[in-house]
Amino acid sequence: MKKISLIVSIAFFLAACGGNEPAKTEATEEKKSETSIMDNPDYDKGLNLVAKSDCFTCHKLREASTGPSYGDVAKKYENTDANVEMLADKVIKGGQGVWGQIPMAAHPQVSKDDAKQMVKYILLLKEETK
Ligand code: HEC
Repeated sequence: MKKISLIVSIAFFLAACGGNEPAKTEATEEKKSETSIMDNPDYDKGLNLVAKSDCFTCHKLREASTGPSYGDVAKKYENTDANVEMLADKVIKGGQGVWGQIPMAAHPQVSKDDAKQMVKYILLLKEETK
């Protein structure tokens, strides 16, 4: 009797392992695509600056809050020098009317280089939302 239940539990164990296989590969693949964005040096540098500033009080990565989600910003603008320049100016000077009537706060204390770095990070976030 004992032997049978042992065999049954081994069989169950094997089946459970087998069932886990596909989920595992999926998770690995997901991680891979994340890593490719994070491999970009602009990702870490920009994220650090955004996290140090007040950006996340109004912006989330995936859902609109006071401001548009960074994923949506990245979808709207192509990652070109001209767009990085234009959006960096908006981070520094503020503005409104592109996403709605709530104004984007001005950040005069942020340098142009830092603002561009922040925008480069934000524009990378598009790949994840595909
Ligand atoms: C007080 C809330 C608030 C804070 C803080 C804030 N934002 Fe915004 N942001 C907004 C709003 C609201 C908009 C939409 C403005 C519009 O419709 O033109 C916006 C828009 C943007 C856009 C898109 C601009 C466009 O023209 O499409 C970028 C990029 C952006 N924010 C980056 C940042 C960064 C980087 C920081 C931190 C330095 C930051 N925001 C901090 C509220 C905020």
